[in-house]
Amino acid sequence: MANIIVGVTGGIAAYKAAELVSLLGKQGHDVRCIMTEAAQQFITPLTLQTLSGNPVYTNMFQLQQNPEWKVEHIGLAHWADCVLIVPATADFLGKVANGLADDLLSTCVMATEAPVYFAPAMNDKMYQNPFVQRNIQILRESGYGFVDPVEGNLACGTSGKGKMASVEQIADVVNTLRPQDLAGMRFVITAGPTRESIDPVRFLTNHSSGKMGYALARQAAYRGADVVLISGPTHLAVPFGVTMIPVTSAQQMFEAVQAHFQDADVIIKSAAVADYRPKTVAAQKIKKTDGDMVLELERNADILAWLGEHKTTQLLVGFAAETNDVAENALGKLARKHLDFIAANDVSAAHSGFGKDTNQVTLYGADGSTVALPILSKDETANRILDKILEKRKEQII
Ligand code: PMT
Repeated sequence: MANIIVGVTGGIAAYKAAELVSLLGKQGHDVRCIMTEAAQQFITPLTLQTLSGNPVYTNMFQLQQNPEWKVEHIGLAHWADCVLIVPATADFLGKVANGLADDLLSTCVMATEAPVYFAPAMNDKMYQNPFVQRNIQILRESGYGFVDPVEGNLACGTSGKGKMASVEQIADVVNTLRPQDLAGMRFVITAGPTRESIDPVRFLTNHSSGKMGYALARQAAYRGADVVLISGPTHLAVPFGVTMIPVTSAQQMFEAVQAHFQDADVIIKSAAVADYRPKTVAAQKIKKTDGDMVLELERNADILAWLGEHKTTQLLVGFAAETNDVAENALGKLARKHLDFIAANDVSAAHSGFGKDTNQVTLYGADGSTVALPILSKDETANRILDKILEKRKEQII
């Protein structure tokens, strides 16, 4: 786990720095906070000290807090694996872009060799200001990273692009510091359910939350892969560094997969795709009658089977969501759809499958291999599947 400096500057979004420090701590990182004088007008050092479990640094000239360090800002700068500036005000961006170092945080940013990321937060007009944009450009060109602000309601009562990115997105940055063992590999991953319209207000769908597919996309991106995530409707945030292609129906997912599969090295189909769709979609809301109703369905394309027929060098990984005869059904799909691997999960088990935070999968390979994974978080399950894919890819290249 990493040593992280969270540098807090003086904007209303400073209160979110507290949430970030708490989240990073829960993820197992060691966090130390540096606050500018203006930041202390918004939240107190005591809050960050309590949440980080470490002293908070506020003053260039206060007596040494860590006796191991000869000079505090240099000691902190060397200690850090990553520096996150949350929020980054226009003033602080301008200061760093112009080489000014007049307080503890700016001196530490100047002195560190660790990656530094800014999460700007300000009024949208301030953010668009040409001087601010010029400073951001200078910083980007100098190798500093950004977690860009998003559109939203701003503290000043207006709305526009200037709202700080979510703390989850900012925390994600730290994870990209992991070993980049999937660098250079291009993944297409599908996730979530599809929705098959019946009329303008109704649809057929399933219980997929997207958690498994998003975990795969997130972990692959953390490990340096280029990831295209083709997702049906979910409530999940787009993982950091992932190219997201939102779709609704199975047909749209099919078209998106067809558009991207040629460029991929690996395709993972964790989406729960509807096998059938209503034969006709009513243009207007279907009115109820006293009698029963019969809905005629027609087959959707089997995207994975199509991929199995058309793949060339791509590694193809499917999932099997089963409620009975898990191994037998999964092995049937592995062979019929010409897959390299299939991850079988028993979706009737308490800790596994739809909507859960954990999963238990057995990974069957076309090479006869079987890896039975224990109950793991979906992120950990994703990493184990990615490890196996990497191993196979290396064999292919050799
Ligand atoms: O999203 P979560 O809530 O985290 O839940 C995760 C999950 C249970 C959805 C996931 O782990 C999973 O098992 N996904 C596959 C679900 C599924 O559709 O299984 P299946 O056995 O019906 O299909 C087998 C494979 O064919 C799957 O890879 C599926 O994406 C693919 N398929 C199915 C039908 C179809 N028309 N086209 C397809 O490509």
